[in-house]
Amino acid sequence: KPLIFSGVQPTGNLHLGNYLGAIRKFVALQDTNECIYCVVDLHSLTAQLVHNDLQSQTRSITAAFLASGIDPKKHIVFNQARVLQHAELAWIFNCVARIGWMNRMTQFKDKAGKDRENASLGLLAYPSLMAADILLYRATHVPVGEDQKQHLELTRDIAQKFNNDFSTRIADLGIGVEMQVGEETVNGYFPITEPIIGGPAARIMSLRDGSKKMSKSDPSDLSRINLTDDADTISKKIRKAKTDPAPLPSELDELKDRPEAENLVGIYAGLADMTKEEVLSQFAGQQFSVFKPALADLAVEKLSPIASEMRRLMADPGHIDAVLRDGGDRARAIAETTMKDVRNIIGLLGD
Ligand code: TYM
Repeated sequence: KPLIFSGVQPTGNLHLGNYLGAIRKFVALQDTNECIYCVVDLHSLTAQLVHNDLQSQTRSITAAFLASGIDPKKHIVFNQARVLQHAELAWIFNCVARIGWMNRMTQFKDKAGKDRENASLGLLAYPSLMAADILLYRATHVPVGEDQKQHLELTRDIAQKFNNDFSTRIADLGIGVEMQVGEETVNGYFPITEPIIGGPAARIMSLRDGSKKMSKSDPSDLSRINLTDDADTISKKIRKAKTDPAPLPSELDELKDRPEAENLVGIYAGLADMTKEEVLSQFAGQQFSVFKPALADLAVEKLSPIASEMRRLMADPGHIDAVLRDGGDRARAIAETTMKDVRNIIGLLGD
């Protein structure tokens, strides 16, 4: 039975890339699946240990989940730090994964920069904790933006190595499940998780530079649309977004060398639940002087209700904390069942 898991870090403002690449998918998946959505506060320590407002950032991401339409009664919404088993399984995965695997991660290389010796050990081990997040619930599917693809491949590698290394123990204890890995049917404890990446908004780019992804850490606020921007700010940022002088073409192929134009078409498609092709067939031949105001109207229409609901929720932190506490209790119950098995498989004496 499919189980969906995903996480978002409580660092900086959520932007349109987070919303279209991830949160909107979380909402869509909840109608037909069991879902667990996590605010990964432990992950946010890897790049910056001392935060002024980690608690409020954690609540703010939770508010964004709820305001976007995630139902915390039907599904589980919680923050990672409440469920200690994440750190426990991450430690075990630190001993499963190889340093070479971690060194190859492009996100580590980007974030650590030139002074790698000075990056936190947590930043290097980041994907181990991410694998623990997912596999603690034995989740089968993980919706994320394109930038997390490599981390999910590593999660699969960790699951596979664990299943292999402990195959005898898993078989002896009779707690493995048959699963399909490529052509082969194998018996393992952890599922080989499938990423859910794709659609027109899997990689939203900066509004100022079509070769860089939209990101929380870009120094220019004009490069991104924050989920909490007001209508005027959204319109201004779209008006000022970098484009080229040509009108929109009718074929997607013709946008290949026009990354800024393609990005705006992708944003429109993501917000309107259309394909890029459908957007082009609607706007073919139009100038940006027509397309940008239409995009701004659409963005304001979709994002303003979320921003105002987030404000309403943030006025009552007690309610948000109650949601996280309840979600944490339900998550912990599943997590502890997994950890009992894992301790058993490894031979760690538990209770
Ligand atoms: P984070 O917090 O950086 O981003 C949250 C989600 O937003 C997506 N995203 C984007 N999608 C499209 N275009 C963009 N420009 C863009 N920028 C960000 C990300 O892909 C992500 O889905 N490592 C994760 C958090 C995490 C996690 C997990 C995710 C921790 N444990 C377990 C899934 C499962 C991260 O840093 O996301």
